[in-house]
Amino acid sequence: MTVLVGPNVRLRPLDDGDLTVYQRIYCSPVLTRYLGVDRMTPQKAIASFYTPTPRKLVFAITSHDDDRMEGMIGLLLEEYGSNAMCTGLVILPGSPLKGCGAEAGRLLFAHAFGPLGIHRVWAGHRADHTMMGSVMTEAGLEPEATLRELFHTQGRWHDVTTYAAVAGRWREQASPLELAIAEGAVLSRS
Ligand SMILES: CC(C)(COP(=O)(O)OP(=O)(O)OC[C@H]1O[C@@H](n2cnc3c(N)ncnc32)[C@H](O)[C@@H]1OP(=O)(O)O)[C@@H](O)C(=O)NCCC(=O)NCCS
Repeated sequence: MTVLVGPNVRLRPLDDGDLTVYQRIYCSPVLTRYLGVDRMTPQKAIASFYTPTPRKLVFAITSHDDDRMEGMIGLLLEEYGSNAMCTGLVILPGSPLKGCGAEAGRLLFAHAFGPLGIHRVWAGHRADHTMMGSVMTEAGLEPEATLRELFHTQGRWHDVTTYAAVAGRWREQASPLELAIAEGAVLSRS
């Protein structure tokens, strides 16, 4: 079990107690609007919760002193190269962790570049989801490209603006805490 603790948030693996919040996220037309998957029915959300995607790590985002899931973030370890895709970042509306999406990403990247041995992490947002640009750059990702018609949701194809971080360059802007996580020294346990 890996738990990553940052200044404001904690990432822990999903557990069965997270199903209600998971359903709330994936059945919401608002929260799924820009995601790469369509809004789910409650039954489909349950099936998806109990059918993990191979090579995908999914973490609940919580505060330090309350284990309740306030959001989630995932990392898909790709088979080609030493590449991983950050995916499915969500923070619940009204959460005390509002504004912490980038911090959650940074913790995950520190873990990826350290204990997971990943060299490159990328992430993307729908080209029309422009507010994500600041979340991406705050997480230490740099703009790369636009991928045309990458995914199909809500009945149409969407272009995706991509960002990436490579290990050495990301470490240059990492905090001491993030570097310690990347070195496997603190606050990350498997
Ligand atoms: C993505 C998400 C986790 C970011 O949450 P967060 O870390 O709490 O981010 P914030 O709400 O602080 O917003 C980040 C930035 O966008 C801006 N922003 C937020 N809502 C906005 C809006 N409706 N219009 C314009 N800008 C907006 C904020 O001012 C902030 O800008 P800043 O960094 O310059 O201050 C959250 O918006 C979310 O869960 N969205 C639904 C799921 C989703 O779309 N995920 C991303 C898929 S790529």
